[in-house]
Amino acid sequence: MQIRYVNIADHGDERGSLIVFEQYKNVPFDIKRTYCVYGTKLGVRRGFHAHKELNQIAIVLHGSCSFLLDDGVTRKNVELNSPTQGLFIDPMIWHEMFDFTHDCVLLMLASEVYDESDYIRNYDEFSASVNCNK
Ligand code: TYD
Repeated sequence: MQIRYVNIADHGDERGSLIVFEQYKNVPFDIKRTYCVYGTKLGVRRGFHAHKELNQIAIVLHGSCSFLLDDGVTRKNVELNSPTQGLFIDPMIWHEMFDFTHDCVLLMLASEVYDESDYIRNYDEFSASVNCNK
């Protein structure tokens, strides 16, 4: 499994930092939705799903957290701790988020509006689905 990142340029100067997400510039999809995960309690693990079609980029704006990414064959853990590093969460990748620091602010850019029917929340169903398409 290829872990794909996007490097986000810091346009900061002596006043501080400034980062930009632009559709079809550094974000290769329509940004139809953004959401934030923050105030996560210690020890919480969340996610536990894959999306059928949705493309996403995860950016940790403050603090740090880790992602488990699983394509049905390989599992990899990745830590995010910089606003200038975005992590692609491609369709049909099972993902879980964990090890949130108390101050973690996780921003997600998503290619579609929220649609529960795009979720696969059962790991066995996910695994059967990716492995029958291989
Ligand atoms: P949930 O899917 O449990 O988050 P995660 O998988 O990241 O742990 O989402 C929590 C709640 O928020 C759930 O009731 C669905 C709702 N929600 C929306 O209404 N819109 C959204 O864009 C997202 C991501 C979640």
